[in-house]
Amino acid sequence: MNTQDILSAASLEELEKLRLHYLGKSGVITEKMKAFGSLSIEEKKIQGALLNTQKETIQQAIQQRKQFLELQKMNEELESQWKDITLPTRCSDTGSRHPISKTIELIKDYFTTQGFILKDGPEIEDEFHNFDALNIPAHHPARQSHDTFFLKDSTLLMRTHTSNAQIRTMEKEKPPYRILSVGRVYRSDAPDATHSPVFHQYEGLVIEKGIHMGHLKGCLADFFRYVFNIPNLPIRFRPSFFPFTEPSAEMDIQFNKKTGEIGKGSDWLEMGGCGMVHPNVIKNCGLDPHEHSGFAFGFGVERLAMIRFGIADLRGFFTNDTHFLSHYNS
Ligand code: DAH
Repeated sequence: MNTQDILSAASLEELEKLRLHYLGKSGVITEKMKAFGSLSIEEKKIQGALLNTQKETIQQAIQQRKQFLELQKMNEELESQWKDITLPTRCSDTGSRHPISKTIELIKDYFTTQGFILKDGPEIEDEFHNFDALNIPAHHPARQSHDTFFLKDSTLLMRTHTSNAQIRTMEKEKPPYRILSVGRVYRSDAPDATHSPVFHQYEGLVIEKGIHMGHLKGCLADFFRYVFNIPNLPIRFRPSFFPFTEPSAEMDIQFNKKTGEIGKGSDWLEMGGCGMVHPNVIKNCGLDPHEHSGFAFGFGVERLAMIRFGIADLRGFFTNDTHFLSHYNS
């Protein structure tokens, strides 16, 4: 029996026509079945087996072709309904660098050109490296004023300043040092326009032979004059107190309170703390304070970013509002 016509049927409709042609009420096989009754017993034996085989062959061929044509039809339907869900959005917004990241880059770029090596300090710190080694003993008021976040059931804490990087460096490496460490610090402060429980500091430490306060002043004056691109930017150092420096100072730059202009007017804006590294700190790190001396400073990144970009409220840095971020990307 040749089933080629069935196996090459082009559509389900054509296949149905062929099915009726062979197996329908007056189909070829059906007719033969009808004539079967008038055959002799001998012929019935031969014809019966032959007819059954023919019928099965046709049925199998129809089933096989039907499966193929149905699958083909389904694929055609799926193909016509296909949607490209990978189509790119029409939004052309490609993102931007965060003003804090940009400010950190500027700080790192400047100080590395001055020979400072970048160092990281851990954000989860122990009391020794955050306080004791920095000459801030237990019960010292400075310890309370830092409003520390302690880790639950632990003596570890979230570092309150980047000054731990000074200790971590002095413990591990031999002087001279000229290091800069930038990173996040944590204090239990309620957020407002000028405070945040998480903020960033940049910390410098220079320990070299013959370093004195004049180097500290020159180093910081050069930096702020470069940042604001004002060659004669007036700066001043106010006597202050930090347990880890002696003498200690706070550094201000001149600005106009009313207009916010830097280098103009008669007001002063505080940038951060600095001083000559306290001999006890040098001793705590296993070095001889008679042999080694140097200066350190620790300033806020947000403060610098706010001035550079003219941002009045620090909370904008942390809310991830794309309008805010793209505005300061120009
Ligand atoms: N660690 C101080 C703070 O967070 C800032 C500071 C002051 C850092 C003087 C210094 C320094 O390195 O010499 O308030």
